[in-house]
Amino acid sequence: MARLTGDIPGQRRLKIGMVGGGQGAYFASYHRAAMRLCNRFDIVAGAFSSDPDKCREAGAAFNLDEERIYLSFADMAAAESRRPDPIEAVVIVTPNHLHFEPCRLFLQAGIPVICDKPLVNSADEAYALASIADRHNTFFALTYTYQGYPMVRDARSRIQAGELGDVRFMYVEYLLEWLAPGVEGLSKSLAWRGDPEMAGPTGALGDVGTHAFNMLEFLSGRRCTNLNAKLSTVVPGWGLDDTCVVQLEFEDGIDGLLWASFAAPGHRNGLRFKIVGSQASIEWSQESPETLLFTPIDGADRIHRRGQSDNAAQTLACTSLPPGNTEGYLEALAVLYADFAEALDAGAEWRTATRVPLPDIHEGVRGVVLSQACVESSQRRAWVPFPER
Ligand SMILES: NC(=O)c1ccc[n+]([C@@H]2O[C@H](COP(=O)([O-])OP(=O)(O)OC[C@H]3O[C@@H](n4cnc5c(N)ncnc54)[C@H](O)[C@@H]3O)[C@@H](O)[C@H]2O)c1
Repeated sequence: MARLTGDIPGQRRLKIGMVGGGQGAYFASYHRAAMRLCNRFDIVAGAFSSDPDKCREAGAAFNLDEERIYLSFADMAAAESRRPDPIEAVVIVTPNHLHFEPCRLFLQAGIPVICDKPLVNSADEAYALASIADRHNTFFALTYTYQGYPMVRDARSRIQAGELGDVRFMYVEYLLEWLAPGVEGLSKSLAWRGDPEMAGPTGALGDVGTHAFNMLEFLSGRRCTNLNAKLSTVVPGWGLDDTCVVQLEFEDGIDGLLWASFAAPGHRNGLRFKIVGSQASIEWSQESPETLLFTPIDGADRIHRRGQSDNAAQTLACTSLPPGNTEGYLEALAVLYADFAEALDAGAEWRTATRVPLPDIHEGVRGVVLSQACVESSQRRAWVPFPER
């Protein structure tokens, strides 16, 4: 299989629009790199910045028709929905407090949405979006980037096929170091992550803890039922949690632990998990994403490597390069985009079009209510049920 490199014969290309991503933005350029890599999307419209000059500059750089460079996302949603050839999806990569309104407007205009995480900043907003999306079965995907790694999917296949025996414990950490030196001199892109008006009710938890939490549910297929959180601020002057430890209970009585931090020196992008079963354990780290460590009771440890014939079928289906030619972060995001293209091609059947379940709006809702429940648990120093609706 060559998921990202099998470009002959080419597949239909999808016309896409972007909200956010003018000069100086962080993550939007990764979205664009991933779209180029998966070779299924053309950006034809955008509201790239709240600054009109930056917006025009980006639109011109992407060679857009002038009439499709919009100075506001509200104008973009209205104008695109009136066109005979509207965009087939919009990608929203603005700071968290600017997810709800564009999502709402594009969904109401009937335009499929790809939104970055966390979905929004309050449970009410999350439920409101989910009900609009569900009403018309409109495609909605969250970019939980790490789901796109082949060896994450390999771990998922092995766990769900019972290779570990009964799952007993799930551990995940997501540690970063950028805040450890202090708040002075942070870039605009990093600084808003400590402002509750923009980032939402949680800091490290909402930003990277949501990835970590989603990872455990994705891997195991089990839903969290209860949690006990401690949110801490260890760096003076930071406005939200920069560190959190969350004890988790999942369906079938499985225990779990999540640890996330922006202030852990020596950890560059340290997402790591370990799943412990009755017969074996499995470990993966995003800084060495090509391998998966499988350690059975009383037997030799095994290192599974991406692209080899003992990979699970769904792993091989999302790899592109031969083993030994390293795939990484951009490929993982591109695999997600390739999935999104496949799902968008399937129209009303989009939910079941991909080999692994798409991270849809309900996964986004779970990330938002995770933050809400952790704030409550941390304030009360108590276990709380995971909110279900
Ligand atoms: N999936 C991942 O792994 C991942 C990684 C990084 C960031 N993110 C998420 O991506 C989102 C963006 O984060 P970032 O680090 O790129 O932020 P950023 O601050 O670097 O970029 C935000 C962009 O939004 C634009 N913007 C702001 N207001 C706007 C408006 N009214 N209209 C149009 N554009 C507007 C800004 O000009 C900028 O281009 C966040 O929700 C973040 O959590 C996800």
